[in-house]
Amino acid sequence: MKNILFAASEGVPFIKTGGLADVVGSLPKDIDREYYDVRVILPKYSCMKQEMKDKLEYISSFYMDFDWKSMYVGLLKAEVDGVVYYFIDNEDMFNTYKPYTDDALFEIRRFSFFSKAVLSALPTIGFRPDLIHCHDWQTGLIPVYLKERFQENEFYRGIKTVMTIHNLRFQGKWNVQDVESITGLSGYYFTPDKLEAYKDANLLKGGIVYADAVTTVSPTYAEEIRTPFYGEGLEGILNARQNDLRGIINGIDYTDFSPDNDKYIVKPYTVENFRRNKVKNKTELQKELGLKEDPKCFMIGIVSRLTDQKGFDLIAYVMEEMLNTDAIQVVVLGTGEERYENMFRYFDEKYSDKLAANIYYSEELSHKIYAASDAFLMPSLFEPCGLSQLMSLRYGTLPIVRETGGLKDTVEPYNEYEGTGTGFTFRNYNAHEMMATVRYAEKIFYDKKREWNRMAERAMKADFSWKVSAGKYQEMYDWLIG
Ligand code: ADP
Ligand code: GLC
Repeated sequence: MKNILFAASEGVPFIKTGGLADVVGSLPKDIDREYYDVRVILPKYSCMKQEMKDKLEYISSFYMDFDWKSMYVGLLKAEVDGVVYYFIDNEDMFNTYKPYTDDALFEIRRFSFFSKAVLSALPTIGFRPDLIHCHDWQTGLIPVYLKERFQENEFYRGIKTVMTIHNLRFQGKWNVQDVESITGLSGYYFTPDKLEAYKDANLLKGGIVYADAVTTVSPTYAEEIRTPFYGEGLEGILNARQNDLRGIINGIDYTDFSPDNDKYIVKPYTVENFRRNKVKNKTELQKELGLKEDPKCFMIGIVSRLTDQKGFDLIAYVMEEMLNTDAIQVVVLGTGEERYENMFRYFDEKYSDKLAANIYYSEELSHKIYAASDAFLMPSLFEPCGLSQLMSLRYGTLPIVRETGGLKDTVEPYNEYEGTGTGFTFRNYNAHEMMATVRYAEKIFYDKKREWNRMAERAMKADFSWKVSAGKYQEMYDWLIG
């Protein structure tokens, strides 16, 4: 049996802000349990839902030196669907009303604490991983601390690490002096070939330099991040490590996302009966959200963090044009940057029967939108993988996406001559190109309904479960652990 420990800052079903949580919550279930014991370790946030906190069981606690203090580290445990989860508890660090705060220095401090606590906790929890699989900058210091101090100790010797980049935009950067002091790492580590980047300390870079292998969440993004446009300043180190860098596409959990068995939607449907039944979800949602009730109207869904990563500049630019006919309805669910929240609120006021802006987080409404919409708009500036488009495909809701990162790898462009494809794509980050693609989709929807439905059928049948990708992770684990 090979022991693998996932370390991350969020994971379904305990805490989620985006796709990272979906991956951390679903991939361990699909790794072959006969050969691998995969467990997960997360921070214990006080903002977790009470029903989730009630599942946690206290294991033990100890004190750890960190940031010139002796700090309490509580350890808790829970088991969900056969996967064991551990939690690191410290009220000063994780008693926040959202999982992440806007205080960049505090974020550096709490996730450096988490990274060191994960390693310190291993002998106590009684699970010695052969490999620690680190996710995003919040766990970037694990490979660093492991090499810097823990591996002197017999217990830790030989533990391998993988650093998975879910989003290169977030790196955990702060000035070297403070980070040196907080982490206790010596000046040796803060040079441009190690943790320093552009004069700052950079925790993700630490992970990339010190991990035994680096992955990201799609083959195209793995290529893109080696260029200046997508590399966010780290393209140099990513090129230097290109032989150890792989892109493995994400899957989704089809037990949580299946239109034939979804507790949130009014009318379940299958590949056989979606032509008749899917539309009932649309008319119900129209009623619920105060849109014009019209089963024939082309409904476009958006479920997203409202950030510039997701292409909202393009949407803002042509929103008026999109809504000035009666042919399109737009349903939005998301939170994020104020300018985008307000943009959607404004259009909701102005076109209340055509656009519904839901500026909050709701699992339930997200499922209803995936099921009800005809198309799903995701014109991202960059997209490491993207899970929303995979969920849409599953519900026969055709994605309209920009050809970047995982969107390019998962949405096959419609080809009307060959009768192939699962969605609509455009290449350049340009509002008019996006608008032309939306118009094209609209035309196929209204004029070639049979073609549209064939495409929806192909989308629903496309397989984005974890099966293949879990195999690729296993291959990598075997290669590293031997
Ligand atoms: P990212 O991780 O960059 O946010 P992904 O497409 O990988 O993008 O994953 C987004 C996940 O978060 C999906 O599961 C999506 O349904 C969910 N999501 C995003 N915003 C909301 C929201 N406001 N309410 C509910 N779910 C949301
Ligand atoms: C990040 C990316 C998204 C990806 C998710 C899970 O949040 O923005 O593209 O799907 O992580 O890997």
